Formats: sequence, C-alpha cells, structure tokens
Amino acid sequence: MSDAINNPAEGDPDKREEAPDIRIRRFFITDDDELTSAVRDSLDILSPWMPWATPDFSRTDASDFINGSNGTNRLDLAILDENDELIGVAGVNQIDVTNRVGNLGYWVRADRTRQGVASAAARLAAKRAVEERNLNRFQITMSVDNEPSRRTAERLGATFEGIARNALLLHNRFHDARVYSLMASELDQIPQPPVRP
Ligand SMILES: CC(C)(COP(=O)(O)OP(=O)(O)OC[C@H]1O[C@@H](n2cnc3c(N)ncnc32)[C@H](O)[C@@H]1OP(=O)(O)O)[C@@H](O)C(=O)NCCC(=O)NCCS
Repeated sequence: MSDAINNPAEGDPDKREEAPDIRIRRFFITDDDELTSAVRDSLDILSPWMPWATPDFSRTDASDFINGSNGTNRLDLAILDENDELIGVAGVNQIDVTNRVGNLGYWVRADRTRQGVASAAARLAAKRAVEERNLNRFQITMSVDNEPSRRTAERLGATFEGIARNALLLHNRFHDARVYSLMASELDQIPQPPVRP
C-alpha cells in the first residue's frame, strides 16, 4: 500500500499478524478519521492516564500521531477488529536502541474493552518490535491507580518489578507507577489466554 507510514521502514508495511478476533498493522495516513473518532469516543477511559486525550483531539492531532508512528524511537500499530475497524493502538515507545529496551503501551476503544483486545494486541506489537527493532526487553509502566492496565500487564504474562515513586506526572499530579517487564524470549512461552466473547 503506497500510503503506509513507513519511515525507517524495515519489514513489510502491509504485513498483518493474526490473533483471535484482532489484527495489528502499521498506520496509514487514511486512518486519521477513525483514529480521531476512537479517541473522542473513549475520553472517559483514556484521559485520566493519557493527558493528550482531550475533547478537542483533532484530525490534525491524529495525523501527527500517525506520521510519527513508525519513528526511530517508536513503533505504534493500529489494532483492527474482524471488520477492519480501528479499535485501538498498541506499540512500543521510548525505544532505547543501545539497550534494546522499549516501553510497551496500549489503549482500546471504550466500547471494545474487556474482550481481551489489549493483551492480545500488546503481545503482537511486542513480537513485531522484536522482529523489526531487535528489542529484548519491554517495560510496562502504569499509575498505581490504573487497575485495567495493571491487569492487562498481568494477563500478558509480564513480571512485576516494583513501584517507581512519582514516575508519572498526570494532570499536574505525580503518581507512583507499577513497573512490569516482559522479555522477548518470554513472548512465545506464556500461553495467550482465550479472547472472551
Ligand atoms: C487498559 C486497557 C488498554 C485494557 O484494555 P482491554 O482490551 O479491556 O484489556 P483486556 O480485555 O486484554 O483485559 C486485560 C485485563 O484487564 C481487565 N480489565 C479491563 N478493563 C477493566 C476495568 N475497567 N476494570 C477492571 N479490570 C479491567 C480485564 O478483566 C483483564 O483482566 P483479567 O484477565 O484478570 O480478566 C483499556 O482499559 C484502556 O484503553 N484504558 C485506557 C488507556 C490506558 O490506561 N492504557 C494503559 C496506559 S499504561
């Protein structure tokens, strides 16, 4: 596809990976409308943890995000459902090339949560980052108050490493953060739980 976002492009931009009910793929510029709607329709769950998610999140914001989604220090992928609708984002950011470490992140459209989407998509995104960016270690860091994200990390099979004090500044308040890790070598060892109906 000619409009695939493809900056330091290694690998096939059209490549998709299968998981129960969902797939991930690189963003296309033409995803901007769907991404904008997904964010705006999910503000209740996103905005406490992702301060960029505001009611005025615009198509330009979505385009900017998409344009940077395959950058040197980021690989963000679109999560698609069985009808090819965009239902979230999973990816790796803050990539540290020297140490082959990345920060694994995810969000899911509010009306598609609790169906196993985030945990399945995050696993696929991590596998993709191993293949394309040669990463070895993934960190997942969330506020101690973000229970859905904690449970997602655990469902993924990540290992709890500890509490990082005041590690996140969200809406002008510092939050202690739970830090989880997942190694590339663990991605195939932990059986993926079935996606719930
Ligand atoms: C966190 C988030 C991605 C989870 O997405 P999801 O697709 O519902 O996750 P999954 O269906 O894979 O479920 C993962 C686990 O979280 C649990 N979970 C999901 N939503 C939950 C909620 N609102 N309350 C409690 N647990 C919840 C699920 O039950 C599951 O745990 P289990 O295996 O013990 O049953 C989603 O809630 C979201 O987008 N939140 C806002 C963005 C965010 O916080 N991202 C992470 C930033 S660090």
